[in-house]
Amino acid sequence: MKELEEKISNSKNLKEIEEVRIEIFGKKGVLATQFAKMKDIPNEEKKDFAKNLNILKANLQKLFELKKEELYLKHLEQTLKEKAVDVSSFKYQGESGALHPVNFTMDRIIDYFVSMNFEVAEGPLVEDDFHNFQALNLPEYHPAREMQDTFYLDNGLVLRTHTSPVQIRYMKKNRPPFKMISPGAVFRKDMDLTHTPMFHQVEALVVAKEAEVSFANLKSILVDFLRYMFGDVNVRFRPSFFPFTEPSAEVDISCIFCKGEGCRVCSHTGWLEVLGSGMVDPNVFKAVEYEGMSGYAFGIGVERFAMLIHRIGDLRSLFEGDIRLLEQFR
Ligand code: DAH
Repeated sequence: MKELEEKISNSKNLKEIEEVRIEIFGKKGVLATQFAKMKDIPNEEKKDFAKNLNILKANLQKLFELKKEELYLKHLEQTLKEKAVDVSSFKYQGESGALHPVNFTMDRIIDYFVSMNFEVAEGPLVEDDFHNFQALNLPEYHPAREMQDTFYLDNGLVLRTHTSPVQIRYMKKNRPPFKMISPGAVFRKDMDLTHTPMFHQVEALVVAKEAEVSFANLKSILVDFLRYMFGDVNVRFRPSFFPFTEPSAEVDISCIFCKGEGCRVCSHTGWLEVLGSGMVDPNVFKAVEYEGMSGYAFGIGVERFAMLIHRIGDLRSLFEGDIRLLEQFR
């Protein structure tokens, strides 16, 4: 029966060994044929014949199992090699995104004030006349209302024209001393190179007992903040007017494009106006029953900062969603 053993050992793959299996162990295979011969064998020889046949069968089976296992492992190894995925060659083919310049600038502004322990508060985009105007010392028919090109809704409410109304909501809900900022969208009927009907502001308000907050505090935090945002700039305060602050100041930085020499961007003045600020007007404190308190406030135009930081010429382009523009900020 050497011949059968060789057939098993010489099988080269799973297909061949399967054919050998059928040939040897199948229903009509060599072993079945041998066992069938039993009935023709004289009785006294039957026992030995059967015994030998069973030994043969067991040996062949053992040999078969070992060979099959060996061929299976070989097959597995080969398949794994052929179908292997080279993980190190994987390359992401898509485009990566980037923060919109307005979000980028907004995040940077918020990061600064959070690091200075300011709380972040938000308010509604649709405001009533009291919060957007009256409580901020802008009574009806006050000429200063003209400064803000308001969107009026049919129900008498307005789209907030600034984030200052959140000051009022925050003061009604909390007790001083506190430091807060309020970032968010605001709306005005305005559209040109540097204005869009929707834009973003960050309002800041610091309130404590009288004599605990001063104009000097306001000045020092703004100088620090503006240098954080724009690098090594000079900062100047110009007397100005806002209904909700007294005294009020507009804040300029030395032009970041010409370093104060004078250029087209700064209209040859050497200065760029960046925000409005002041000490909270006593009339505002009166509206929220905060008599005896002192505080300062300022309002930052986020798009104005983004335009300066990223040197964007036309603000409207930021809101058109043109992917070619946004790709430049990756
Ligand atoms: N609310 C003003 C605006 O939208 C910005 C502003 C100016 C806010 C001076 C202030 C401030 O808190 O003190 O034009």
